[in-house]
Amino acid sequence: MKSDKNLTKNKNVFVRRHGRKLNSQRKEALDNLMPVLGIKPELITNKGDLPPTVLFENVSTKIYMEIGFGNGEHVKALMEKYPENNFIAIEPFVNGMSAFLKSIYETNLRNVRVWMEDALDVVKSLKSNSIDGMYILNPDPWPKSKHHKRRIVRKETLNEYSRILKDDAEFIMSTDVDELAEWMAISTQNHPDFEWTATSSYDWKNMPEDWIQTRYEKKGIEAGRKQTYLIFKRKKR
Ligand SMILES: C[S@@+](CC[C@H](N)C(=O)[O-])C[C@H]1O[C@@H](n2cnc3c(N)ncnc32)[C@H](O)[C@@H]1O
Repeated sequence: MKSDKNLTKNKNVFVRRHGRKLNSQRKEALDNLMPVLGIKPELITNKGDLPPTVLFENVSTKIYMEIGFGNGEHVKALMEKYPENNFIAIEPFVNGMSAFLKSIYETNLRNVRVWMEDALDVVKSLKSNSIDGMYILNPDPWPKSKHHKRRIVRKETLNEYSRILKDDAEFIMSTDVDELAEWMAISTQNHPDFEWTATSSYDWKNMPEDWIQTRYEKKGIEAGRKQTYLIFKRKKR
């Protein structure tokens, strides 16, 4: 767990913004791709009035969101696998964003728009019923009870996620922290708009078909940690 001294309080969410100094390649990717792929701050109104289609040139596709993508391996793999889809990828940690942008800099992959601040800025700005699926993989656990209100999955944020997700959209979460897995499973199941797709413990204990592992997840499994996979659906309105 990170120490609090590296965290920046952005509205009510605590995020680590900077780590090691960026190398020249990461800096170049960040400087050149943020103006092209970054969501323009003037679109972030927090008023639920942003149709995500305006972010992309190709409007006939599905739009998925990944919150807290780390170094972006998972969203990059999705972009490669589903070139017809578009992705909104959010990561406030500059080193993570620059690693992701460097990884796509010399490729043709441009089916993504990024935001390097709190995910809730984008979530609250998007129109209702406009996103085809959402991933939150290995969110920060905030283990102390007094910090649970900082968790990215909690009642208030679930209200916003359910608002922007389309009917039947998948809401996909994972973690290797048992207490957080229980917290996310219970809070999402208790939310009236979400339905758990699991039919038995097999479903949350085993990697779903077509799952893309992040480096963080692979390292955890190698170290003997168990990953929990939580797949929910946004109920029909
Ligand atoms: C433990 S890492 C997991 C990274 C990646 N999803 C993975 O599985 O490898 C959690 C990530 O969530 C990001 N994060 C924390 N608070 C956030 C927020 N409010 N909005 C978006 N991302 C956030 C952190 O910067 C960090 O990169």
